[in-house]
Amino acid sequence: MICLSLTGKTIAENLRAISRYAFCIDLVELRADFLLPTERPEVDRFPSAVPAGRDGYRLPAILTVRAPRDGGKWNEGEGERRHLLSHGLQGGGYAYVDLETWIAGEDESLRTAAAADGTAVIRSLHDFEGIPEGLAGFLGGDGVAAGEIPKAAVTPNGSADLVRFVEAVTAARAAGDSHPRIVVAMGSVGFPARVLAGRFGSLLTFCSPISHDEVSAAPGHIDPATMHDLYRYPEITEHTAVFGVVGNPVMHSRSPAYHNERFASDGLDAVYLPFEVDDPAAFVRLGELLPIQGFSVTIPHKQAVIPFLREVDESVSDAGACNTVVRDGLGWVGFNSDVTGFLEPLRDAVAAAGTVAGATPAGATPTGAAGLRGMRATVVGAGGAARAVVSALLREGVAVLLLNRTVERAERLRDEIATRLPAAAAVRVAPLDESSASLIAESGDIIVQTTSIGMEPDIDGDAIDFYRFSGSEIVYDIVYTPEETALLRRAAAAGCRTVSGRLMFERQADAQYQRYRQVVLLAR
Ligand code: ATR
Repeated sequence: MICLSLTGKTIAENLRAISRYAFCIDLVELRADFLLPTERPEVDRFPSAVPAGRDGYRLPAILTVRAPRDGGKWNEGEGERRHLLSHGLQGGGYAYVDLETWIAGEDESLRTAAAADGTAVIRSLHDFEGIPEGLAGFLGGDGVAAGEIPKAAVTPNGSADLVRFVEAVTAARAAGDSHPRIVVAMGSVGFPARVLAGRFGSLLTFCSPISHDEVSAAPGHIDPATMHDLYRYPEITEHTAVFGVVGNPVMHSRSPAYHNERFASDGLDAVYLPFEVDDPAAFVRLGELLPIQGFSVTIPHKQAVIPFLREVDESVSDAGACNTVVRDGLGWVGFNSDVTGFLEPLRDAVAAAGTVAGATPAGATPTGAAGLRGMRATVVGAGGAARAVVSALLREGVAVLLLNRTVERAERLRDEIATRLPAAAAVRVAPLDESSASLIAESGDIIVQTTSIGMEPDIDGDAIDFYRFSGSEIVYDIVYTPEETALLRRAAAAGCRTVSGRLMFERQADAQYQRYRQVVLLAR
């Protein structure tokens, strides 16, 4: 079930939020600690004002008045808090009331009021520091009275903590009983576990009426429409294949939107989650536990993940980085789809330039529309992205001029690539300044920009602002936010054919998706 946590200051505001999401939620939680004092008298009548959900029945409600020690906003003392809980229960309309573990044994009047009206007690435990010892036992009912529903909201601080969390909830589940429980992993590290809550035997997962960036009831919340439509929460079962993207930071990655939409449109039982990972070794352990069938890798783990792979293909050794991992019968196998993602749009641009000009571009072989052999390229930058780009161009038979602010770094990159690709020895290295303008003119069939210059928020940045285009260059910027960088705008104005990094993102994501899809289809 998807539960909408209501943190409005007024009942009316909360009711509006419910109406907005009624199509995708199963119950609501009134966080009465967020209400203005003037709204509190209405708390007992709130359940009867809640609108119907998608099945036509009024949505059930949880009553919660959270104290500051548990992350709540209540600031008027414990006596007043219990008074408000008691007032709310008098109405008899709540399906559940949330009472913390630390008031157990001192809350008899509240429990009696709840029992009288058939309101179930959720017995909640909060840990904002980490994963408490004894989590599995608590979820199994240790210290929780008969009939109460244990709820643990805990905080994995890193990948190893997320492993401990998953081990605890799995152990509680394996202990056998079908006792209802609620598990919540807070924060961005815990986010995947919120989407997989149902798999861990959790009665529900909490969402907030917000977009990703706004303040929410608790760290890690997303809005229920995203949980329902993008992550397809109601459809996730034990059989759903789990994929994800591993990075740090990763919560703003576009990959979950891309891959979940494709899984949905292909009707595949699979979900793709953002994993904020600080420790690749612990993530690999998590991959076995969940299990995970495949994952994308982004900054800063594209190299760190390689030692954990059983096998890598040539694209990984070329790029010195891995961005795609899938499971086969024996272990993890790594690929690099950045190489294909980079080359395909370039081949298209070269072919299109040849078509328009009625001839092959300068230096290119006349055979094969997509042939790059014999062309000359200038690559700007000498970081991780440049490494994949230079290796790919050399393999295609393109002569490369490498420009970088720090010349020694470009020389190191060239020498390192030369240990695998002898053609790299011929790569010319020069500083990224106007002294290199004439070199670019000589090596400018293709110009590839691989630095972060021009990337939001630096939208006026142009890494080669000292260079005047002749108009015959194919200019490729691998930056994709914004889709058209200042460099591409200037190149297009000079008559150049341009290639946006957006195309590279989409092609590499498509190449990844084809592998993930294959894994799901083979498992069917
Ligand atoms: P990535 O993996 O995305 O390529 P990286 O390995 O950190 O990132 O490499 C960043 C590249 O952008 C480098 O070529 C860097 O130049 P230096 O090697 O001289 O540091 C380049 N870069 C970043 N900001 C730059 C700037 N303001 N001016 C010039 N080059 C810049």
